Amino acid sequence: MRIPFIAGNWKMNLTHLEAIQFIQDLGYEFKNKNNIDVCICPPFTALRSVKNIIDADKLSIKIGAQNMHWEESGAFTGEISPLMIAALGMDYVIIGHSERREYFFETNDIVNKKVKIAFKHSLKPIMCVGESLAIRESGKAKEFVLGQVTECLKDMDIKNIFDLTIAYEPIWAIGTGKNATSSDANDMCSAIRNKVADLYNNSAAELLRIQYGGSVKPSNITELMAMPDIDGALVGGASIKVEDFTAIINY
Ligand code: 13P
Repeated sequence: MRIPFIAGNWKMNLTHLEAIQFIQDLGYEFKNKNNIDVCICPPFTALRSVKNIIDADKLSIKIGAQNMHWEESGAFTGEISPLMIAALGMDYVIIGHSERREYFFETNDIVNKKVKIAFKHSLKPIMCVGESLAIRESGKAKEFVLGQVTECLKDMDIKNIFDLTIAYEPIWAIGTGKNATSSDANDMCSAIRNKVADLYNNSAAELLRIQYGGSVKPSNITELMAMPDIDGALVGGASIKVEDFTAIINY
């Protein structure tokens, strides 16, 4: 049985001081629930402060970074290495978010390298895929997303697949208030699961957690989570409001 997994992607929001306030408030609302995995992904500058509070208050909340480089060290001004993220005690790392792909030109090849190095350092990747509106309207969304899955997982060892999460985030649904219908989202998540079965095997596909992301809110989470192939959500805007994120976790 797959344990539901809700993650919050804060994107470029909240200073470390605001993040401290947030995690204290969230911790107050939510303690030691054990039928769901919850993760928050603050900006790099807040990771340490938030992690300290999670540890000190023994909160059953996981924490992840939103990105990292694929090299361990070197002359990459402004970048953060997987070694640094692992040394902070992070559980997860988001890889290949559509905003990274769009604004920072990350390709499937780069995503593949980052996912591989994440596993090397025992960081669990949340690997993002999703199509643009133009691709959806052209009727090629499945082909495109399954192509992303195949290229991003190229030469990936099967033992790693058990610690992978794939987030299906249709770009046209991100931050727009327009979410995919739960049956459309489920349809794509199911196609992703079948693709992973083809690439690996049925038991890897059965254990793989697939999240939906794109305008997830307290008002649509229940319907999304009722779908058989949607195992969780990657939440943007609603994850930086304690009340909304708590309502989503308690769907
Ligand atoms: P929104 O929930 O704000 O649409 O963002 C989704 C997202 O990009 C999460 O990674």
